[in-house]
Amino acid sequence: MIRIIGWRVKTSRPPRRQTLVTMQELTIRRPDDWHLHLRDGDGLRAVLPFSARRFARAMVMPNLNPPVTTTAAAIAYRQRIVDALPAGADFTPLMTLYLTDSTTPEEIERAAACGAIAGCKLYPAGATTHSDAGVTDIRRLDATLERMSERGLPLQVHGEVTAADVDIFEREARFIDEVLIPLRRRSPQLRVVFEHVTTRAAVEYVCDAPAGIAATITPQHLLLNRNALFQGGLRPHLFCLPVLKRESDRQALLAVITRGDRRFFLGTDSAPHPRTAKESACGCAGIFSAHAAIELYAEIFEQAGMLPRLEDFAASFGADFYGLPRNRGTLTLERREWVPPPSYPFGSGELVPLRAGERVAWGLRA
Ligand code: DOR
Ligand code: ZN
Repeated sequence: MIRIIGWRVKTSRPPRRQTLVTMQELTIRRPDDWHLHLRDGDGLRAVLPFSARRFARAMVMPNLNPPVTTTAAAIAYRQRIVDALPAGADFTPLMTLYLTDSTTPEEIERAAACGAIAGCKLYPAGATTHSDAGVTDIRRLDATLERMSERGLPLQVHGEVTAADVDIFEREARFIDEVLIPLRRRSPQLRVVFEHVTTRAAVEYVCDAPAGIAATITPQHLLLNRNALFQGGLRPHLFCLPVLKRESDRQALLAVITRGDRRFFLGTDSAPHPRTAKESACGCAGIFSAHAAIELYAEIFEQAGMLPRLEDFAASFGADFYGLPRNRGTLTLERREWVPPPSYPFGSGELVPLRAGERVAWGLRA
């Protein structure tokens, strides 16, 4: 379905001098965001239009405060999202349940039966924003995970161990060895999404693992390495979890998506926080990218010379993994530079978006 409308050469006046005008257009199947933080209340109303404009569906993360731990809470949250949509928006929120040490098989039964919940999220306790109620030991949840496999509900994992003595850059690799491999041995039928993978180790694990696992990848982990966090000073707006990694890790992520591996698909992990919470003595983790999400992925694939591979990554592989139909509509991007503003309103405050004040190479067609 990809359509690249080629390069147009325009003759300028006076004649004889030629200017190459890069009027490139790209039409793809409407994409989905398989990992998104929408927050609630005024924050939700501020950020939702950005995602709804670009994506047909999004997998909405449950780490509200308090977290979305029950089917009833997920259905109520879904309704608040639907109520906050701009008029005429065509956007379906897919809900997730936040697993705790006490999530029961009966809760999984209710979640599977309600039809609105598409997965259950494992936050290791203390791993990231609002994860205090997360799981302290996944082995306690074997019966719950078993029910998820029976009912076909995938497990979405924040793949980092949280022990204080583990180096922050090693947390993902350690999670693979200490949690993921044993978990998949105990529950081989459970479908797993390894969320926001950041390392070569994670790419290699997913590529070599038994079937039934896939992974999402964020724009920031494809665009930046950990040097960016310290470029010219400390950059709080580039702090997210898992933290940015080495250049060799970024290259591994780029390689796997540009060769069109269907186990890897788009998940922005767009995670808005007020500026004051980021620019703080103890700034919180999360990068807001929903305002330019598909545009940044287009830039990434273009820079790798693989623009025709964008569509499957953004609009096919995720739906296929979750067993959902691919979207029928389209989205058109233009090769048109624009500059995101220094901030967007966010409830009573503001948030600083990814690429604030810097150029983005692709824009949406109006
Ligand atoms: O950087 C992050 N921010 N990583 C997460 O896992 C959570 C997210 C958030 O909710 O702010
Ligand atoms: Zn997330």
